[in-house]
Amino acid sequence: MNKILLTGCMLACVLFMSFTFSQPGLQPIMQRGKKVYDTYCLTCHQADGAGVPRMNPPLIKTTYVLGDKKRLINIVLKGFNESVEINGDYYDNPMPAQPQLTDQQVADVLTYVRNSFGNKGTAITLAEVKAERAKLKK
Ligand code: HEC
Repeated sequence: MNKILLTGCMLACVLFMSFTFSQPGLQPIMQRGKKVYDTYCLTCHQADGAGVPRMNPPLIKTTYVLGDKKRLINIVLKGFNESVEINGDYYDNPMPAQPQLTDQQVADVLTYVRNSFGNKGTAITLAEVKAERAKLKK
């Protein structure tokens, strides 16, 4: 009887740990990312990531947010000025580049965006941002 109990406890423990650590270290990144978002993105894209129709596009499950990471990083580093259609609305306003952000802040805010507002995406790493920033300097 005791053995069964013990095995049960151990199983529960392993399950709990694998759940908690499946995205290691995501929580501190999310906290830092939220701060960057609230300071540099929220005024345009809004607290819930829904944007402002026909002015600032939503960040909810768009192909830009969840698609190619390099393209996403470059939107923040270089700004974005194309006429795009997102969820049936058109956006022409330019998004200003955010060169004041450090590589770490860019990685944090994009990981935050990719895991907020109903999004579920892998983290953007510091190395990935560094690689794109290096291309800018050439
Ligand atoms: C001054 C307003 C403004 C600020 C500040 C701003 N954006 Fe944008 N953002 C825009 C606009 C406008 C577009 C659409 C640009 C276009 O049509 O070319 C856009 C487009 C985007 C896109 C691609 C389209 C989409 O909706 O998926 C992403 C991703 C994005 N912004 C993320 C961010 C992040 C992250 C920050 C903060 C670091 C930020 N933006 C700050 C206005 C802004």
